[in-house]
Amino acid sequence: MAVAGAITVEQANRLEGKLRLPGDKSISHRALMLALLASGTSRINGAGDGADVRSTAGIVAALGATVDRSADVTGNADYVVGSPGVAGGLRQPDAPLDCANSGTSMRLFAGILAGQPIRAILEGDASLRRRPMARVTKPLRAMGAWLEGMAGERPPLIVVGRRPLKSITWEPDIPSAQVKSAILLAGLAADGTTRVREQVATRDHTERMLRARGVPVRTAAHDKGGATVEVDGGVTPRAVDEHVPGDPSAAAFWLVAGAIQPAARLQIRHVGVNPTRRAVVDLLRTMGARIEETPTNAADDVGEPVADLTVRSSELEAIELGPAQTASAIDEIPILCLAATQARGRSVIRGAGELRHKESDRIAGIVAGLVAMGARIEAVGDDIVIDGPTALQGAVVDSLGDHRLAMTFAIAGLVAGGATTILGADSVAISYPTFFADLERIRS
Ligand code: S3P
Repeated sequence: MAVAGAITVEQANRLEGKLRLPGDKSISHRALMLALLASGTSRINGAGDGADVRSTAGIVAALGATVDRSADVTGNADYVVGSPGVAGGLRQPDAPLDCANSGTSMRLFAGILAGQPIRAILEGDASLRRRPMARVTKPLRAMGAWLEGMAGERPPLIVVGRRPLKSITWEPDIPSAQVKSAILLAGLAADGTTRVREQVATRDHTERMLRARGVPVRTAAHDKGGATVEVDGGVTPRAVDEHVPGDPSAAAFWLVAGAIQPAARLQIRHVGVNPTRRAVVDLLRTMGARIEETPTNAADDVGEPVADLTVRSSELEAIELGPAQTASAIDEIPILCLAATQARGRSVIRGAGELRHKESDRIAGIVAGLVAMGARIEAVGDDIVIDGPTALQGAVVDSLGDHRLAMTFAIAGLVAGGATTILGADSVAISYPTFFADLERIRS
């Protein structure tokens, strides 16, 4: 029986080839948003062309920029964005701003809109409407903006901005780059210096990209892996041209595929290896994955380290992750769970509770899907415990409409006996529209 959005993956004999990934999703969102804030013309080359980034592009246009998008040769998108910038005034939108499935769009735009003298509604799809927003509304209210969500502070969010905002020092309860970024972007419109003190340092693209656009951002690392980031209000980012590196979170699927498939050699080109994003590479190496890394920075990779990665079939050992390590690889935990099913010994991933608040409840989704395929994996409170290695068997598994679960189950399908049918597999279009085309190209 054919089910809409379902895709079946057969076991592979061999994985071999070169892959070029979607442009980093986090960087693509921020590049579009900062192009809106800057006056003049910004060029963004190689942006991810998934549905999430396109949601951000639509909102940038609704707020008054001209957004010209064209597909590039790799299936990514090149953008030319012309904006009056915050100096010229963002346009008062005449309809709700649709973030669709994208939490990054909603939380970062909440920060941007908090400091603009306009009123906006940030709307989302059924998945986004279940996700918590108090983590951004609380600090933005403390800065003087007016924001309201629905019951339990869920989307849609109404934002009535105000300029200038008050600067604050904020210590988020949970490690979140989206929360940090929302506060820093609001801080651009604040009087004085806005500070975010993080117990665990999260991805730092906002900081790097603001610096590259002439905004002074200071970061002071403190003991136990945390950092305080501060930005001065009143400095407008300038327009720049930028090339977006490949998404390390997309690379993670191929790194695990190459490591766990017995006849594999995959080369993944031009991957962002920013220290705050590369944890998955290092964790897989700790497990025994044979990954080679060759730096390949080009001049326009604004402030981001980039490398080619080659992975070969490997013998994996179990791993234990503490909560800070889990946070540093938060988007890669589902695919790391799959790697752990093929590793020798007991793996434990501690402090993964935030995964319940992503595009789906990723703990429930990954456990249900991998158990259906024969894995020994269970959730114990906020920890995930996996015993390996186990031979996986094809099954019907539900991605819960979550792109990262769909891609994890597809990679599982490459090593599982027989056929694996993934329900909701079309969700890969959120971050990696060409995922299944790439999978077919490198398998035999
Ligand atoms: C992101 C931050 C992370 C991550 C998400 C993208 C970002 O979310 O899971 O996919 O671009 O800042 P949290 O801030 O909720 O951890």
